[in-house]
Amino acid sequence: MTDRPQDPAALSQNGDDALVIFTPSGRRGRVAAGTKVLDAARKLGVDLDSVCGGRGICSKCQVAPQIGDFPKHGVSAAAGCLSDFNAVERRYDEKRGLKPGRRLGCQAQIMGDCVIDVPPESQVHKQVVRKRADIRPIAVDPVIRRLLVEVAEPDMHDPSGDLERLKAALRDQWGVEGAACPLPVLARLQPVLRDGGWQVTVTLHDAGAGATILDLAPGFAEDAPLGLAFDIGSTTIACHLTDLATGEVRAAAGAMNPQIRFGEDLMSRVSYSMMNEGGAAEMTAAVREAINGLIGEVCAEAGVARDALYEAVFVCNPVMHHLFLGVDPKELGWAPFALATSEPVSGAASDLGLSLAPAARFHLLPCVAGHVGADAAAVVLSEAPQEAEKLTLIVDVGTNAEIVLGDRNGLLACSSPTGPAFEGAQISSGQRAAPGAIERIRIDPETKRARFRVIGSDLWSDEDGFDHGAVTGICGSGIIEAVAEMRLAGVIDEDGAVGSPAQIGLPVTVPGGRTFDYVVHDGTAFGGPLVTVTQADVRAIQLAKAALMAGARLLMDRRGVDAVERVVLAGAFGAHISPLHAMVLGMIPDCPLEAVVSAGNAAGTGARIALVNKAARAEIGRVVRRIEKVETAVEPRFQEHFVEAIAVPHKTMRFAGLEGVVRVPGVRFGGGDSVNARSRRRRKSS
Ligand code: FES
Repeated sequence: MTDRPQDPAALSQNGDDALVIFTPSGRRGRVAAGTKVLDAARKLGVDLDSVCGGRGICSKCQVAPQIGDFPKHGVSAAAGCLSDFNAVERRYDEKRGLKPGRRLGCQAQIMGDCVIDVPPESQVHKQVVRKRADIRPIAVDPVIRRLLVEVAEPDMHDPSGDLERLKAALRDQWGVEGAACPLPVLARLQPVLRDGGWQVTVTLHDAGAGATILDLAPGFAEDAPLGLAFDIGSTTIACHLTDLATGEVRAAAGAMNPQIRFGEDLMSRVSYSMMNEGGAAEMTAAVREAINGLIGEVCAEAGVARDALYEAVFVCNPVMHHLFLGVDPKELGWAPFALATSEPVSGAASDLGLSLAPAARFHLLPCVAGHVGADAAAVVLSEAPQEAEKLTLIVDVGTNAEIVLGDRNGLLACSSPTGPAFEGAQISSGQRAAPGAIERIRIDPETKRARFRVIGSDLWSDEDGFDHGAVTGICGSGIIEAVAEMRLAGVIDEDGAVGSPAQIGLPVTVPGGRTFDYVVHDGTAFGGPLVTVTQADVRAIQLAKAALMAGARLLMDRRGVDAVERVVLAGAFGAHISPLHAMVLGMIPDCPLEAVVSAGNAAGTGARIALVNKAARAEIGRVVRRIEKVETAVEPRFQEHFVEAIAVPHKTMRFAGLEGVVRVPGVRFGGGDSVNARSRRRRKSS
């Protein structure tokens, strides 16, 4: 690029002032000729990034001046509307290369009326576009940012510590007052300042209650700070390594929660802690070890060191929350289910034994109530039902289901102990969602034979080329479809009883003790397993879905409605549940089928939002305080709703959403011991 002569025609006709219009924000105003673009942006409140404070080093301030007539804006921008490339820009362009048409906003001066485009990568609050169109994008504005500062050298005649001069530089150059400096950072301060020739990149944490210096690097540090978002579920833990400058996920990993060995569900873990001296501490150590293992995995996948990770945000249910923090959860085991705290919890990551950067921080979202945790808060953060026009039911399907009902007029929340069946656990042929697991299944209503698809293959089992030897079991979404398809095909009746070959009229079931098992796939000839859905599997799914529906019904009772307008299926495998099959099974209440959407791991998404957007943390704190909590464990109607919901799809509810789509046969095999009958007997005898 070469210097070009200043075009006098570019100068504004309005005295020394030039009209500047920034796009895409549309902000406009007049500035004195000679004003730098970055200064004009700040004056007009335009979102233009800067890490180096205008030293021409970071290139975060890049802009694209537009030349020509812009009738929409009522302005003509001439070629000389910005000053020529200066030496700093030329040096940057030679060393690192500027894209054609780009300028450094901290160097280019406004010389005449101009239109300046701020590209997405130069915006401070970049938007992370989310896959679904019906949810809001996330603005990237994390609590952690990096700033380049020039620190005054020590002077014998004006004695002051290096830290005091660093703090003064932060105040004078960036307006950051009184930043705290933890010991691990202070220990490195002096060599870093001298290595960088008194220029230092500060990694700063500022959640609104005072800034803390998390790290220092000599000179200008180009790499972006990184953070972690964790969703600690009862059964699985999910981790996302996220770039805090762009919001981009750099790596993801998941693991089974090792606390399973102390108890499959939450209450058995609370019992373990009550019955065993030191039991809570054992579970705390187990989950922290698994989390450190996941941190190692995502660092290896992204090719980054643990030292580059400055914050970890966690969401989890209340029992996981307490155990992770090292708080005995026994108070959650009995009424009134008192939390140690429902407030958000933040602190030094090292206090939790997390292996991150030495001064890294952690943050846990607030809990909603004794049995409704920070994971429910995260789901609300992700899905924003408090802004919805339509009455929305969100079910976060997991071992413990979090259920939220509401719209802009208010939210209700509860949790329901569904158990691990939906995740493929306690299912005879159940397995984790991994290659070889059956995830889709269809049963022919005439032949009653199953065809299916497994994870890792696009072929259906009745298509040429399908590898029958690769089938290993059924995952969570597969078992939901299997039971729903069995109901549609008349293999089970309304009570969930699996029919005998004589009752069904075809030899598709085999004896399994005193009941019958439905054969999905016989892989024994290929050296694989016999994959069946047993009567016990059907019962486990009935109990799980009845608990879910009973929780939803309690919230609907409280709201005074019989149906909802929209359903969001969330959870680790929420994205894989077919809305039709969820409704045939009676997992969700009646709703137009097209208004049932899958949100994937909404709790995990909520954790990522809190990680990259500091305003979201304050927002969820406000929203959570207004949520009306319903405690399923002490609601007398829960049991009544539960018993009615054991039938498939339901004893009393009708599903208009299924009409014209599928016909649920009215078969009844009788003779078997139904779950309803057993529940009724249990209630009588108690
Ligand atoms: Fe850093 Fe312009 S602000 S290069």
